[in-house]
Amino acid sequence: MFRIHCLLMLAGTLAYAQTSSPRKLITSMEGKDLYVAYCASCHGLTGKGDGPVSPALKIPMADLRTIAKRNNGAVPKEELEKMILGEKGSRAAHGSEDMPVWGPVFRKVENDRDLGLVRVRHLVDYLVSLQLK
Ligand code: HEC
Repeated sequence: MFRIHCLLMLAGTLAYAQTSSPRKLITSMEGKDLYVAYCASCHGLTGKGDGPVSPALKIPMADLRTIAKRNNGAVPKEELEKMILGEKGSRAAHGSEDMPVWGPVFRKVENDRDLGLVRVRHLVDYLVSLQLK
């Protein structure tokens, strides 16, 4: 019973995460706006992993503020871009039911694929700015 409840909550929150924000994406190219619209629901506003959706997830949240610390002091920007776009070699988490692949979302809103990539780049730059020193 508890399991079913969890699944229902996850389905609900995912639907919320996906339907509540596309408008923001269309009007903004800013990394921060993209992050707030698409990532903060799970990852939290600071990247700590304490977004409102996070308790409903089955796997523990990652702390996005310590990516550099865990990678010899540098954020692997290219790897993150690939991960967000759901490209080959990216982390499993993004293609799982807990973390949908976001690439199509970024491409879909913009007919111009390059603009979608610019957004992803801005988003990654914003992740860089979240790193704890
Ligand atoms: C539905 C919840 C959810 C949303 C929305 C979400 N994520 Fe995640 N994300 C997760 C979970 C859960 C993990 C941890 C999974 C793992 O590491 O295996 C994760 C892992 C990550 C990681 C790897 C972190 C690390 O330290 O290795 C990055 C980077 C990331 N997410 C970025 C993003 C970005 C950027 C967005 C917005 C475009 C986003 N996520 C939206 C749930 C989410």
